Amino acid sequence: MSDRWYSKAVVYCLDIDTFADSNGDGVGDIPGLIGRLDYLSRLGVNCIWLNPIHPTPNRDDGYDVADFYNVDPRLGTLGDFAELLHQAENRGIKVIIDLVVNHTSDQHPWFQSARSSPDSPYRDWFVWSETEPSDRKQGMVFPGEQDETWSYDRTAKQWFYHRFYKFQPDLNIKNPEVREEIKKICAFWLQLGVAGFRMDAVPFIIEETEPGNPNSPKDFGYLTELRQHVQWRKSDAVLLAEANVEPADLVTFFGDEGGSSNRIHMLFDFMLNAKMILALAREDPEPIIDGLRDTPKLPAGGQWATFLRNHDEIDLSRLTAEQRADVFAKFGPEKEEQLYGRGIRRRLAPMLGNDRRRLELAYALQFSLRGTPVLRYGEEIGMGDDLALNGRDAIRTPMQWNRLANAGFSTADPKDLIRPVVTDDGYGYETVNVTHQRHDPSSLLSWFERMIRTLREAPEVGNGSCTHVDVPAPRTLLVHRADDTTGTMLFLHNLGPDEVRIDLSSLEGDAEQPNDVLADSEYPEPDKLDDLSVSGYGYRWIRLRRGI
Ligand code: NOJ
Repeated sequence: MSDRWYSKAVVYCLDIDTFADSNGDGVGDIPGLIGRLDYLSRLGVNCIWLNPIHPTPNRDDGYDVADFYNVDPRLGTLGDFAELLHQAENRGIKVIIDLVVNHTSDQHPWFQSARSSPDSPYRDWFVWSETEPSDRKQGMVFPGEQDETWSYDRTAKQWFYHRFYKFQPDLNIKNPEVREEIKKICAFWLQLGVAGFRMDAVPFIIEETEPGNPNSPKDFGYLTELRQHVQWRKSDAVLLAEANVEPADLVTFFGDEGGSSNRIHMLFDFMLNAKMILALAREDPEPIIDGLRDTPKLPAGGQWATFLRNHDEIDLSRLTAEQRADVFAKFGPEKEEQLYGRGIRRRLAPMLGNDRRRLELAYALQFSLRGTPVLRYGEEIGMGDDLALNGRDAIRTPMQWNRLANAGFSTADPKDLIRPVVTDDGYGYETVNVTHQRHDPSSLLSWFERMIRTLREAPEVGNGSCTHVDVPAPRTLLVHRADDTTGTMLFLHNLGPDEVRIDLSSLEGDAEQPNDVLADSEYPEPDKLDDLSVSGYGYRWIRLRRGI
């Protein structure tokens, strides 16, 4: 893969502890994941993003780190991790890990030392206030699970800042030692062989928190500094950031105003995520068209990462109240399906009523839009969720490998599993599992394999431009195209239930030998583009031209 490998990647996100358990203790582990690399290779993904792997009290699924330089003993050892990197590399798969440096766990030795004495060398590594900050009850990320962003610590006899849960004290980015330590953490893992980092909570990492100021300034310069450091250590390493902010504010995360991408390489497109979900709910592509039109132009080298489902709730907070209400009505009408008043805690298959046509449509759409697609484990087989579990855990159940006990995830006693496997009627592991689908060429899994292979043969998707084709079209049909020197792909996605037809003869000048490379069913060869049909919830990926 070239140095801009990330723009041609298909990223697969997984949490080691729910993927595959090799030693029967009920928790997935690194050797278990190594044993499944061939599965991922066959699926066609070429980059794995691992949710946090570090030692942790595990009160926020590992996003509360107690040691940045080690692997959680539940998952294995550093030696196992090095072996994973080697085995993945053998298969042409890159590995990126979560870098969670906005905060630590309150059990981290740095925080324990910091709170123990004002003279601790780590005291200033965290953010303190002697008096009760007036914005103490503002800026909570998890309303309902989190009451405040400043808490009083009796040992320290001061207030400390925590953007997330109380057990996640924020690191103080203004402290030069903290800035250097974060670089050292990156260098350590790069030296071991990771291909980059999914950076957690980036807008908060660079926040220069001032007590009483809910809009504290941000130090974007640190992102430039970090990028430079990372790139010196490994020239093709990538930073993929979570920055769920207004689109207009995003460009600054990619680079400074000169127009070069000298900060984050790749950002998750939260806005497009919400707009895709809205479009699917309304069966109307308009929100996606808006999204494509309104997104600011990125500096050269900047790239979006698209997703439909990640490990958290589907965050609808950037939609209007009316739009959000439409999505809730369609995809999460019950209170137990919603979270934090802004999101949905279901997997995609249950949201789409387990309707195979709509699932294919949704993922064909995501993978054909601009940017690098990210896929959450289990989505490729249409896994369901467990709403009886707390909050975001509903979609963090063990991977369903086969119809043996515990879905083939583990040989442990079911009561010792990290989380119960899904057993309900529609989505239980006896029906929905890898083995079953692997042998069935018409399964969702086989479809994902085909779709990803097709995408890998179309580098203009992800790498090139992605534009809405603005021609008179039926209301439910999205027409877009991807172009670069390698060729042109045309995409038709019908978000509604009825068959539609469209005249695209205006594009004939761009078409050499148009042919369907992926479609929901067989269509007559599109020799001419003047009368193309697309079935209800259907899609067609048509190659118009192959370039150099
Ligand atoms: C964002 C992560 O996606 C989420 O899972 C986590 O709880 C918070 N950051 C805090 O690290």
